[in-house]
Amino acid sequence: MAEIKRIVINTGGGDAPGLNAVIRSAVLAAVNRGWECYGIREGYNGLLEPQRYPDGGLVPLDADRVRGITHLGGTILGTTNRGNPLKYPVKDENGRFHEIDRTGELLAAFAHHQLDALIAIGGDGSLSIANTLSEHGLRVVGVPKTIDNDLDHTVVTFGFNTAVYFATECIDRLHSTADAHQRIMVVEVMGRYAGWIALHAGLASTADAILIPEIPYDINKVAEKVLERERRGRSFSIVVVAEGAKPVGGELTIIGKAVGQAERLGGVGHKVGAALEELTGKETRVVVLGHLLRGGKPTSYDRLLALRFGAAAVRALANDQSGIMVALDPPTVRYVPLALATKRMKTVPLDCDTMLTARDLGISFGD
Ligand code: F6P
Repeated sequence: MAEIKRIVINTGGGDAPGLNAVIRSAVLAAVNRGWECYGIREGYNGLLEPQRYPDGGLVPLDADRVRGITHLGGTILGTTNRGNPLKYPVKDENGRFHEIDRTGELLAAFAHHQLDALIAIGGDGSLSIANTLSEHGLRVVGVPKTIDNDLDHTVVTFGFNTAVYFATECIDRLHSTADAHQRIMVVEVMGRYAGWIALHAGLASTADAILIPEIPYDINKVAEKVLERERRGRSFSIVVVAEGAKPVGGELTIIGKAVGQAERLGGVGHKVGAALEELTGKETRVVVLGHLLRGGKPTSYDRLLALRFGAAAVRALANDQSGIMVALDPPTVRYVPLALATKRMKTVPLDCDTMLTARDLGISFGD
């Protein structure tokens, strides 16, 4: 392959703690190889809509620009979940949004700016886009990011550990107030269609019931768990609900779906809380942790993972690899084809030892 002189980095989809650590690591690894480095603002918008940015849609990235950012949440490049170049939302003359494919324009912008390769940091959506760009001939390495941990072929994504750590801290705090008031506390956590955050945080914080998308719940079984605790003199209960949980025979709880965006989940915690209050007669409060799980600084685990991923992405490009994603395969990182990594969503296997542990401890899954 032709020698690399200039690479570009982007961050797409929902942010996750550790994005800045990947950027710093990739930039330093690239600069130390004598490559020039740029970042695209807000997904691909910096290339598709450069007029939006007074300082330009491309940000020059050097050692100075990435100093002191390893521990910071968010992303210095900005991100968006409304900038999929394959389904770009545009307003027509009637003010209605519809989706158009802007891949050709994007590839032309890469060529115009003489960008030799892309490091795409993102979740399933962003890495599917990266895969398409790679199929069109662009040199691309993906870095798996998401608090949801639902990307396949990597043991874990960065951001997940921070989300679980914070959710655990929050649920720990709810124990004492639930106990003081003899209440049910329902805690809704993010995770989209996978129950990883709910399972890990719920188990770590000794929740009494955990409702995950992988196991449709029967609310009567959850109420029975609460009442059974009551009979044993435990007059409070903690119920962790993944935003993608749904009742047996029922539907997901969806806030809405805008053109060019994924559907937004949320609200199932309130449904579960109302039903439990009704069925048990116990006062119930609902806490939605939502975006708190995405904000703030990454744990040391996520920082380290992000730094390893960023440098590994640059090493892959230096070794003429493309169309791949960096993946954690302890004790090392390895590379998997983007097409394979984005083929299916990684949900919680019902026979994994974390699930078995939760069951052995008597935690209810509402089944
Ligand atoms: O994928 C990460 C995630 O935080 C999901 O857990 C959640 O459903 C979604 O993003 C929320 O995204 P938004 O930024 O649109 O609120």
